Amino acid sequence: MILDTLNHAKPNSASKLATDITPLADIAPLAKVTESRPAKLAEQAAVIEWRDGQPYASAFQDVYFSTDHGLLETDYVFLQGNQLSQRWQSLQSNSFTIAETGFGTGLNFLAAAKLWLETAPKQAKLHYISVEKYPLSPLEMNNALSLWPSLAALSQALLQQYANLLNSTKTITMFDQRIQLTLLLGDATEAYETGYIAQINPVVDAWFLDGFAPAKNPDMWQAALFKNIALLSNTASTFATFTSASAVRRELSKAGFAVIKQAGFGKKREMLRGQFIRRPNE
Ligand SMILES: C[S@@+](CC[C@H](N)C(=O)[O-])C[C@H]1O[C@@H](n2cnc3c(N)ncnc32)[C@H](O)[C@@H]1O
Repeated sequence: MILDTLNHAKPNSASKLATDITPLADIAPLAKVTESRPAKLAEQAAVIEWRDGQPYASAFQDVYFSTDHGLLETDYVFLQGNQLSQRWQSLQSNSFTIAETGFGTGLNFLAAAKLWLETAPKQAKLHYISVEKYPLSPLEMNNALSLWPSLAALSQALLQQYANLLNSTKTITMFDQRIQLTLLLGDATEAYETGYIAQINPVVDAWFLDGFAPAKNPDMWQAALFKNIALLSNTASTFATFTSASAVRRELSKAGFAVIKQAGFGKKREMLRGQFIRRPNE
């Protein structure tokens, strides 16, 4: 079982991800990033405030990522929390699926994409599925991603296609078809239950559970969402999240996940990670 072999780096330790800055040569220069947003999304638009140079969601009174260091947090919580480097270096299959609950600035996606390009076999494909109810405009996303110079080349590749994702395109491919991104606009619980996700019915290998803090964003941490997540999991599926809220722990366990608490990133004392072990009533 994957969980038995977990061997985590200390929180906050800089990994290869943050230090190895290798621009991808085949990425075209960034097209002009504008503030354009489809009219139907205007009401649902994220309202971003900038506090100390970091994006802040006024409506939720919360940050998009740790103010200690967002990229290192992603590396520690989501990439290491799901053991992605080890799993991808020894990948037996030709594909791997990550699903996320809140796309936000795209930081988690880009950090995972970078690690995938560095570690996974060349012929294998990463399918990254995410959902966003309050999407950032291309301009806001550009501003948020410019915080991470080591991801610049990948950010440009995403921004070139991001406006399409805000219109009718659900899936884009990037990096010589090695990565496919599906972004669904709407509520996470609904997205993982019905519609497009139900049609493609993926088996998710790793979950990134990333909403705002549970007390401020309860929709993202409800039992119904965890039930849907369990239905898209098998016994090799893992999850990781920055929160250690007891309600989240309890509901994930009820949905069939083995849940482990471990040291959190930065100021966070604890976080959760784990693996799907059984369907309820099995
Ligand atoms: C902490 S941020 C995610 C950060 C993101 N993963 C990144 O890499 O930047 C939480 C995200 O969840 C989104 N969100 C909040 N409630 C939602 C809901 N009910 N359904 C889908 N997305 C939601 C927010 O708009 C926000 O972008």
